[in-house]
Amino acid sequence: MKFLITAGPTREPIDPVRYISNRSSGKMGYAIAQAALDAGHEVVLISGPVALPAPARAQLVRVTTADEMYDAVHANLGGIDIAVLCAAVADFKPAVFVARKIKKSAGIPMIELVPTRDILASLGALPEKKFLLAGFAAETDDLEKNAREKLEKKRCDVVVANDVSAPGLGFESDENELTIFLPDQPGRVLPRGSKSDIAKVLVKILCAAQ
Ligand code: PMT
Repeated sequence: MKFLITAGPTREPIDPVRYISNRSSGKMGYAIAQAALDAGHEVVLISGPVALPAPARAQLVRVTTADEMYDAVHANLGGIDIAVLCAAVADFKPAVFVARKIKKSAGIPMIELVPTRDILASLGALPEKKFLLAGFAAETDDLEKNAREKLEKKRCDVVVANDVSAPGLGFESDENELTIFLPDQPGRVLPRGSKSDIAKVLVKILCAAQ
């Protein structure tokens, strides 16, 4: 099967030296890419800026901003069977990029933010989607309620919920715990373990659901 996986954060530039971003090391998305490759699948990995080596045999597409990630995802949909959107895409970007460094001496700047395009929702809205769409949900509370809302609103086939409030799990850590939600089925917990072990189980579940 062919996977398209997004990973890492995006960066939304304010001026040439500053940006807005999200906490994400890319470890979870890269672990899913590696697990899919190890299971013999083909992988297009669309990655925001991370400090990880590219998994050998993945087709790596590097991007920086949410707009670039949106375009790269849509340009790479050909022939994919499973899309896993694990990236921590910035929800907002500055309305205007200031071409020169904003001087501290000019006072505290007011930065107007505008929403970025929602990549996951744009895939869910495709009229003839032939692939399984798995979104992630990073939540600090009401995990199941929020994950099921995303499942419906963004028209995903699967939502992988990540409780990012627990210490040592989620963002940046080597371990994680995930709960997988499919419509009309109880959530399935993948208990705490290395991102690499969890990714192997997740890949099997996604292939079975495809
Ligand atoms: O990278 P690590 O340090 O290993 O951390 C892993 C992780 C915690 C980042 C990962 O497991 C995770 O939870 N990723 C989703 C992070 C996130 O942004 O969640 P969200 O609930 O805000 O977004 C919901 C979904 O919409 C996600 O699939 C996201 O990729 C997608 N999205 C969000 C905004 C946007 N503009 N476009 C999107 O496609």
